[in-house]
Amino acid sequence: MSQTILRGRVLSFVSEPQAIDDHASYRYWEDAGVVIVDGKIAAVEPWDAIAPLGGDYIDHRPHLILPGFIDMHLHYVQSQMIASYAGSLLEWLNTYTFVEEQKFSQQGHADAVATAFYDELVRNGTTTAVAYCSSHPRSVDAYFAEAEKRNMLMVGGKVMMDRNAPGALCDTAQSGYDHTKELIARWHGRARGLYAISPRFAITSTPAQMEAARALVAEHPEAYVQTHLSENADEISFSMELYPGSPDYTGIYEDYGLLGPMTLLGHCIHLNHRETGVLAETGSVAVFCPTSNLFLGSGLFDRERLIKHGVRIGVATDIGGGTSYSMLRTLDEGYKILQLRGQRLNPYASFYMATLGNARSLSLEGTIGAVALGNAADLVVLNAAATPAMAMRMATVSSLAEELFLLQTMGDDRSVAEVYVAGARAKSTLGGL
Ligand code: GUN
Ligand code: ZN
Repeated sequence: MSQTILRGRVLSFVSEPQAIDDHASYRYWEDAGVVIVDGKIAAVEPWDAIAPLGGDYIDHRPHLILPGFIDMHLHYVQSQMIASYAGSLLEWLNTYTFVEEQKFSQQGHADAVATAFYDELVRNGTTTAVAYCSSHPRSVDAYFAEAEKRNMLMVGGKVMMDRNAPGALCDTAQSGYDHTKELIARWHGRARGLYAISPRFAITSTPAQMEAARALVAEHPEAYVQTHLSENADEISFSMELYPGSPDYTGIYEDYGLLGPMTLLGHCIHLNHRETGVLAETGSVAVFCPTSNLFLGSGLFDRERLIKHGVRIGVATDIGGGTSYSMLRTLDEGYKILQLRGQRLNPYASFYMATLGNARSLSLEGTIGAVALGNAADLVVLNAAATPAMAMRMATVSSLAEELFLLQTMGDDRSVAEVYVAGARAKSTLGGL
């Protein structure tokens, strides 16, 4: 048995905060002990109750211990093309993305990028992410092998794409099916890995490939499904040209049986009334990607409308359309998008989204996303005075809500003092792998 005890201020959510004074939505300890046994949380109690146990502990005071951040959508194979200069989505994909992803046919390349990518996640306090790999199965092997080495709970899958992209990147309906099946068998449920069946989006899949995806989803209800939906106006009109029989963009995925509670849909910006209804009915998840939506000029996510219609929501960086690995930067940009929509997002709701909210949207509540008994000890330790400018502002902060808002508005990887993955220190040991 291995045991670690942490001491610090602890914040963890129990429900979605409805307002800035919704104090019932979270638990907060000013001075707590977190007891970790064999990678899981065995106790969270006021320090006075833990101190009599005696023994060594790691003192993180005055920092704030939260569940590790969860990033619901990103492309690890785009790590070396963040900040590529393009007007909008389809130009960005054709000019940079589909060129970059071809490099992942080489195992050495995939391994090297995977290592650097995981370092960056950890540096930013992200302990679980849901990634698109490239269309090459070896990019998936590199992704999950690295997750296993680090004992991280990671979701991902091979992109399926058989048209409207360079030949070197395309699979076929048959090979996409076969390779996905092999990869599910190899990686789903191995260590902490979970597989996501990943048809890229309607534009890059023929009807035959969508049929293959339908079969995979029916044969593997245990796996996630991820794709892109309604990000950009040109993307929507091209999709409708390619699938004229479907009522709208969401209808394409609906027609191929790809929607459901395990389905994660990146972007979901320009949905009509019928589409939001279908997402709600099927329990599909709309994933908000703020930095990407601003960078590519895609549009403003309508969080309140989706929530009002009962759609499940996630939040994500969308590297490399997104511009930062930091979920703090992501929450900040998300706040600004919602400001433009007249929707004020309170800081409790922000941090809920990046932790328990995303865990719930992955149907992983009880496993990750909370500092609570039985959850994995995947934790982030945040310092709201990490830079001189933050320290200057922190000197005038007088409430937890203000501190959280400061962290999301000014924070980045420098605010991440430490990260624990399954109870083991992960940030301060980077490079020692
Ligand atoms: N739509 C299809 N592929 C992609 C991608 O790689 N990034 C983004 N942002 N949108 C997509
Ligand atoms: Zn994406």
